[in-house]
Amino acid sequence: MKGVILAGGLGTRLYPLTHVTNKHLLPVYNKPMIFYPIQTLVDAGITDIMIITSGPHVGHFLGTLKNGKELGVNHLEYAYQEKPDGGIADALAIAEDFADGQSIAVILGDNTTDADIKKPAANFKEGAVIFLKKVPDPQRFGVPAFDPKDKTKIARIDEKPEKPASDFAVTGLYIYDNKVFDYIRQCDPNFAGRNQLEITQVNNFYIQDKALRWEELKGFWSDAGTFNSLFTSSQFWAKKAEK
Ligand code: DAU
Repeated sequence: MKGVILAGGLGTRLYPLTHVTNKHLLPVYNKPMIFYPIQTLVDAGITDIMIITSGPHVGHFLGTLKNGKELGVNHLEYAYQEKPDGGIADALAIAEDFADGQSIAVILGDNTTDADIKKPAANFKEGAVIFLKKVPDPQRFGVPAFDPKDKTKIARIDEKPEKPASDFAVTGLYIYDNKVFDYIRQCDPNFAGRNQLEITQVNNFYIQDKALRWEELKGFWSDAGTFNSLFTSSQFWAKKAEK
């Protein structure tokens, strides 16, 4: 299985830090943010990786990651998202040729976790697998609404709902079969009212086709796209390094 890390967007919530460099190269404790999702993929045995980025500081990635060898990556490719805030699904669409008809593991470049996704990646056959995490502030995320008749099934996912249907966040780790690219072509930029192609709509298409499974992510998980979450992430990784 190949891996895709989405590191586009403009990181406006982190201005003025992101005037200096791309969000995903900012430090999370002692490493650039993007080292963490790369490590998650490499630890899962996924070493053929594409990084999709955009914005004014794209050149900084090459200087930081080079060919990825120091991080255990066998093959590292870079791709450029023309519309820097086109949405997560818009960025993922660029990976279609790279995926080459196969399944892919996708991680958002501002998500860090110490969870191990080796098994779900190795056991994956078709459809989609998403990873959930209980959070105190689900309104900030994609939130699953469980089927009242069968609580093990997700009935739908709402993007940043004012009244969340559960206290779970859909984390930015996903495993998709190659149908993901057909679903992206069906996405509507008005789905969540922010003129972006939303990964949450893609996940809802999988739900409609009864092809989405979920697992609870074990261990630490956080995004790092706001000052608070960037700080929380750094604190976690600093404490973990002490142990
Ligand atoms: O962190 C998990 C959450 O990520 C999910 O729960 C949400 O369902 C999902 O929509 C997303 O929410 P955010 O609004 O926090 O995503 P954000 O716009 O911050 O983008 C997250 C990463 O995705 C970002 O670090 C880089 C990548 N991205 C984003 C956009 C909008 C791109 O590569 N291109 C883009 O156009």
